[in-house]
Amino acid sequence: MELLKRKIIEEGIVLSDQVLKVDSFLNHQIDPLLMQEIGRTFANRFRESGITKIVTIESSGIAPAVMTALELGVSVIFARKRKSLTLQDDLYTEKVYSFTKKEESEVSISRKLLSPSDRVLLIDDFLANGEAALAMARIVENAGAEVAGIGIVIEKAFQNGGSKLRELGYDIESLARVTSLQSGSAVFAD
Ligand code: G4P
Ligand code: NA
Ligand code: NA
Repeated sequence: MELLKRKIIEEGIVLSDQVLKVDSFLNHQIDPLLMQEIGRTFANRFRESGITKIVTIESSGIAPAVMTALELGVSVIFARKRKSLTLQDDLYTEKVYSFTKKEESEVSISRKLLSPSDRVLLIDDFLANGEAALAMARIVENAGAEVAGIGIVIEKAFQNGGSKLRELGYDIESLARVTSLQSGSAVFAD
């Protein structure tokens, strides 16, 4: 997606050869027009996939997930990272190990929100080692539902998440594939 790549080049800050900071449009401030275009692009890619629901993880996945959901006419479930006062239903809970943060956390979705007839599109802002996407997929599959696709805004193709998920047979669309951050700027796959 050309607009997204331009945004990354113009506003992204390469913090190290592993980490790209995009706080000005994705992880802190949100650019709604860019987000609308992201939603349209995911929706066009997965329009024939029979999607009934979108699943993401709070917080940065929510904006692209909602814009995609608006285009597809479905609801968004965001997996929660903390047990909340109101989220006390029976839950699907999965562990997520972050190689970046070197810590394990948990994500949960209420059992009421997923059914075996759902065809789910997973959306996330970044794909690094794929642990977050795999946790979402396990929740969907534990509910007896199907992961019909995975939409990623920025894939760091030099980490192994993309190849892991593709080997498992998931249909993945990444809007920007960054192959290297080593020169101090982002290099794209195409
Ligand atoms: P993984 O799920 O693919 O294995 O990723 P990892 O554990 O490395 O990611 C942990 C958090 O860091 C996630 O956000 C992920 O989106 C984010 N992240 C990973 N690599 C980058 C990067 O290069 N740049 C930026 N900006 N973020 C990255 P999170 O902690 O769940 O937070 P939130 O932003 O969704 O609230
Ligand atoms: Na994130
Ligand atoms: Na995320």
